[in-house]
Amino acid sequence: MPVAGLDLISEIQQLKRERNAVILAHNYQSNEIQELADFVGDSLGLAYKAAESTADVIAFCGVHFMAETAKIVNPAKTVVIPDMNAGCSLSDSCPAEKLEAFLHEHAAKNYYVVAYINCSAGVKALSDVICTSGNAVRIVEHVPADRKILFVPDANLGQWVIEQTGRPMELWKGNCYVHVEFTRNSIERIRSQHPDAPVVAHPECTTAVRLLADEVCSTEKMIGYCKSSSARTFIIVTESGMLHRLRREVPGKEFIPGPTDKCACADCRYMKMNTLEKLHACLRDLAPQIIIPEPIRARAELPLRRMLEWSR
Ligand code: 13P
Ligand code: SF4
Repeated sequence: MPVAGLDLISEIQQLKRERNAVILAHNYQSNEIQELADFVGDSLGLAYKAAESTADVIAFCGVHFMAETAKIVNPAKTVVIPDMNAGCSLSDSCPAEKLEAFLHEHAAKNYYVVAYINCSAGVKALSDVICTSGNAVRIVEHVPADRKILFVPDANLGQWVIEQTGRPMELWKGNCYVHVEFTRNSIERIRSQHPDAPVVAHPECTTAVRLLADEVCSTEKMIGYCKSSSARTFIIVTESGMLHRLRREVPGKEFIPGPTDKCACADCRYMKMNTLEKLHACLRDLAPQIIIPEPIRARAELPLRRMLEWSR
């Protein structure tokens, strides 16, 4: 590693001590950020860590809705994100105003709104409970049986949950631009090259891809699955950052990224906007910071707290 890189890392560590900061990173972050973080995990693990944090500053290396979630559950903390433009196509597919208009128009249905955590604070504030890919099945099983469910914003995850629970739900038609890039052809091709390797896919993938998978689970559960499986080689059908986490925590096994029709692996351009330089700058400047109007934050906290209780 070049000296400049080492300097940058030690400066980040120094700033972290001075600010009494904690660095939380999602499994899709770059290798360097994962190495430096105090905790690396999936959306559910990160939400718990943020809620429990006693640090003064949370430097959130992930995308905007994840940093926003940290601020919602722990509002007294200063929450910074290396790049404020690190958004999410899935979150963007369900603007709060559109959801509000839809709920208004269909008020007679008295929907119970289950929102996947990949959504804005405004959408969370319109929801009854939040879920992540790690607890979606459990959360939907908790919803009162006499209520009609509207599941937002990921139709692919929603479809998987319907199949797992047998519970009918109406689905918002959003998706993740990264996970829909995996196709039946691209996964069949890599599987024919590694016939003994289980295919492990994220539930944001399309049904056609999910049907080819040996295991469908959240990024965190991929670690447990690959550790306990007797297989030596795995095809991992999710964003490429996950491969680093797996190689670090499941040594001695081989991980092959699921390809798309165009590329050998899939990167989320939003997740990859965060860099060590920007992490350094956000700890130094305490900016950009996540600020949420208090009425929205307080309303969004209710369904998030419900999720944290129901998934214990
Ligand atoms: P996980 O909760 O499984 O980490 O997924 C988050 C995400 O953004 C997937 O694209
Ligand atoms: Fe959003 Fe997809 Fe990126 Fe996850 S991988 S943050 S769902 S755009």
